[in-house]
Order: sequence, then C-alpha cells, then structure tokens
Amino acid sequence: MSMKQKFVATLAAAAVFGATVAGPVGAAEQAKAPANGATYPSIEKTSADSPKQHKMSPEFQAQVKKLPPEFVQQFKKMTAKHTRYSEEATARQVMMELLSDVQCTTAGLMVENGEMVADCAVRASRHRWPKGHLLAYVKLEQINADSLATLPKINEQVEGGLERVAEMALKKDFVSAGAEMGKVLSGCSSCHSLFRFGKGESPHIVE
Ligand code: HEC
Repeated sequence: MSMKQKFVATLAAAAVFGATVAGPVGAAEQAKAPANGATYPSIEKTSADSPKQHKMSPEFQAQVKKLPPEFVQQFKKMTAKHTRYSEEATARQVMMELLSDVQCTTAGLMVENGEMVADCAVRASRHRWPKGHLLAYVKLEQINADSLATLPKINEQVEGGLERVAEMALKKDFVSAGAEMGKVLSGCSSCHSLFRFGKGESPHIVE
C-alpha cells in the first residue's frame, strides 16, 4: 500500500468508527427526550414547517372571524408545539396516525418498554396538523367560543397526559403510566362525543 492509499484507508476507518461510536449515543439521547428536552418526534421530519394557505369557504371564514381574539390567542398558545403541517392528510387520516401511535404506546406499557412508550406517546402528543387545520373538520355551528371552550381541558388530558405517560414510563413507573393512559383514552372519547360526526354509515342500507 502506498502512503497515499494508507492515508485514505485510515480516514475511511476513522469515519466508520466515528459513525459506530456516535450512532448509539445519539439514539440513547433521543430516547430520553421527554426528560431532557431534546427534540421529538425522533423520526426525520416529513411534513411541511408552515401551513399551506387554502382558500376556505366564505361561511367558514365568517365563523372563524367571529371567534374572540383572546380565544384565538389561547388556542394558538395551546397548540404551539404542533409544528408539522400536512398538505395532504385529512383529519381522519391524522387521527389514524394518532390511533396507531396510541396503540404502540399501550403495547409498550404492557411489555414495560419505557423507550417504546416514550417515543410513541410523544409522537402522538405532537401529531401533525391535517390539511387546512383541524378546525376545518369541525361542524360550522360548533366553531364558536362556547363549543370550543372544552378544548383546553381535553387537550391537557390527551396531549398533556401523553407527555406524562412518556415521563413516567422512562422512570419505569408503569403502574402510574398505565393509569394516566386511561385518562388519555377517556379524553379521546370526550372529544369524539362532542366533535366527531358520521361513522361512515352506508347510504345503501335502507332499513
Ligand atoms: C380535539 C378533539 C379530538 C381529540 C382530542 C381526539 N380526536 Fe379523534 N377525531 C376527532 C374528530 C373531529 C374526528 C372526525 C374527523 C372526520 O371525520 O373528519 C376524529 C376521528 C377519529 C378517528 C377516525 C375514526 C372514525 O370513525 O372517524 C380515530 C381513529 C380517532 N379520531 C382517534 C383518536 C384517538 C386515538 C385520540 C386520542 C389519543 C383522539 N382521536 C383524540 C377529534 C378528536
């Protein structure tokens, strides 16, 4: 081997070694994210950083305009951690992602895999926005401060709860994490009983 070849070979070995050393350390740090404040989701970001501006119906715009500015401010603050915006997915599709991450969370709890729980729970808690924002999928007559006033509590229960589940699971307190998860699930159904309509009934079944 010439001097030059030797030099290149050494560099290549250093690069590979560097990667093998850095890899597992980075992964371990990410897994501890909820406790140490590192960024989540731990997957590469796939959706947009800012919402695509859609032309909304005049009726929708009129309803949104009627919302008190304080309410809009509070709503924005409450949802600030959601920084991924889908340009394609509907609310139902995002909800399916949420369901999948919640199932992964409960599976992790059952087998006491704290890292699995934390990854899935935090990803669920910080789900992406559907195309046109979640409000676009709410009934027009429910877009008002009175109907939407229930959201901060539900949000705390579901998204706050998922973050707590992640923290508890990383501390290996699976009993508390399981109990907290129960509250999360009842938060999902509270929101559904208020804002989810139509279960996809068949128009062909007459009687
Ligand atoms: C802020 C209110 C809200 C919360 C909280 C919420 N959902 Fe939803 N969810 C909706 C709405 C609204 C729909 C109906 C969307 C549509 O049909 O366009 C829906 C629909 C769904 C669907 C589709 C199934 C169907 O029959 O339409 C699934 C699955 C789902 N949600 C899962 C969850 C899970 C799991 C949680 C808790 C981790 C959750 N959702 C929390 C509002 C919410």
